[in-house]
Amino acid sequence: MFFLNLKLVICIFFAISFSAWSDQNSDKINPEIFNIGSQNKNIKLKKERKPIVSDNWMVVTANSQASIVAGKILEKGGTAVDAMISAQLVLGLVEPESSGLGGGAFLVYFDNTKKEVITLDGRETAPLLIKEKIFQDVDGKSLKFFDAVVGGKSVGTPGTPALLEEAYKRWGRTKWSLLFKDAMNLSNNGFIVSKKLNSSIKRSKNSLSKFINTKTYFLPNNVPLKIGDIHINKKYANTLKVFARDGSKVFYDGAIGDDIISTVQKASINAGFLSHKDLLNYKVIERSPVCSKYRDYEVCGMGPPSSGALTISQILGMIENYNISELGPTNPDTWKIIGDASRLAFADRSLYMADSDFINVPINELIDKNYLYERSKFLDSKNKIEIVKAGKLVSKSSSNWSNDISLELPSTSHISIVDIYGNALSMTTTIENGFGSRLMTNGGFLLNNELTDFSFKSFKNGKKIANNIEPGKRPRSSMAPTIILKNNRPVYVLGSPGGSNIIGYVVNAIVSMIDWKNNAQEAASVSHGINKFGTYYLEKNTFISKLAPSLEAMNYKVKLKNFSSGLNIININDRLYGGSDHRREGIAIGN
Ligand code: DON
Repeated sequence: MFFLNLKLVICIFFAISFSAWSDQNSDKINPEIFNIGSQNKNIKLKKERKPIVSDNWMVVTANSQASIVAGKILEKGGTAVDAMISAQLVLGLVEPESSGLGGGAFLVYFDNTKKEVITLDGRETAPLLIKEKIFQDVDGKSLKFFDAVVGGKSVGTPGTPALLEEAYKRWGRTKWSLLFKDAMNLSNNGFIVSKKLNSSIKRSKNSLSKFINTKTYFLPNNVPLKIGDIHINKKYANTLKVFARDGSKVFYDGAIGDDIISTVQKASINAGFLSHKDLLNYKVIERSPVCSKYRDYEVCGMGPPSSGALTISQILGMIENYNISELGPTNPDTWKIIGDASRLAFADRSLYMADSDFINVPINELIDKNYLYERSKFLDSKNKIEIVKAGKLVSKSSSNWSNDISLELPSTSHISIVDIYGNALSMTTTIENGFGSRLMTNGGFLLNNELTDFSFKSFKNGKKIANNIEPGKRPRSSMAPTIILKNNRPVYVLGSPGGSNIIGYVVNAIVSMIDWKNNAQEAASVSHGINKFGTYYLEKNTFISKLAPSLEAMNYKVKLKNFSSGLNIININDRLYGGSDHRREGIAIGN
């Protein structure tokens, strides 16, 4: 079986004939070795990987098949956006549990011609017919998370197809139809089922079995797709053919859109409210990037409806007042500062951050250096801050607390790219939970459950919650595609999946590179300590878990756990250095 898989891997590799590998670490990124490695993931081997190094371009995605296809585009002179589109189309096939054409994404782009950072919001929207109490039972109690996720009610208007087209119109260069070629080949002739896809199917077997299209595809004969299977998705191939020919209109005012609507409205569980009007109204929105200074760098990312860049800027803005670099990563005081800065930022996040088209989000005040300096004074305490409250801002929000309840399953995907023109791209893309709503269209792709990122309740103590459900509103996100500049040039391109832990993952990686001078691979594999609401979660089997007694002595409740971050990072230095999180199946390649 192993040799059969090996043969297939090699065949597929040569079929797409990619030859532009980095000269350094060639043993590490030999495609044959890598592809086998990705299926029989050996964490030790991956942890020992050095950063991939290249001179002209680099791409880091969550799956080798997507990275290879994107690399081919870049090698032929394609732009970062061309490569991203080809990677996203492949990810929708090979990592369907994480992202795809039925989901949404945020794009952060450094345009090297204009020397500016631009952000595009391709987040899903709530249907116009949505009801405020959609995720409550008859007694007004919040539904259990998975009771809300599975079925049509959680599906928001997909934004990814429109985002791909909008990005292409602005920054594409390769012929549009060529971007679809490899994804179509892989759909028609078969892609390799990875270990992650296999284990994700096993984990969600029950919910995937609730819908016939989904079950037939992921569990043929009631058996989860196996690692190394060569799997075909003809329906997805057809979707790609139509998308390549007619553009994203087919999703919003065409046959694929009709199918999306009927899949949602006729869902056998939780029939939903998405309508043609929602699809017709959908718009990708260019928003001002949220940028803030951190030491000698400028950290830029996606503003509301994402809380990602704002919360990261707040955490960094507070810890900037401490010498984390000198304290070092093994000092419990370092983690007290990072953990409590994170708790303070999450308090503000809960109160003030949501879709800024619906509520006033005081963006400038939240990342104001004086405000963060005052907030950082709380971090002077010897032990953990006992009571964490949101800061008082001049522009009051009428909102109230709402903590995240979304569970972190290995869903969502991050793409980092630098092209030969010096453009840099950071995109986090998602269908929310693993396999989203579990509804699969007749077009061979899954629909998101992004609406469960809203607060299930609209009011608390008589006050409106910022992230309440409203027609047309975009649910608050934690996704944090990030580009970090120094002297107005991009130096780090990064992001991660992980639900609301994304914020901590990205902060840890940034601190690892900027304060602890680690390289892109070390930062992607950085050991995690995450504290959002009081309990300190320390990553099992890493040096950080040994800090538990010291942190407990500071009054923290401590829990050890595994994390499933998927940091994909490029450092633009004398050369390009790429790193990919050992916890998932990502791979950096370059030439
Ligand atoms: O937008 C968000 O913040 C979430 N829907 C992302 C979900 C996610 O990252 C799940 N990952 N493990």
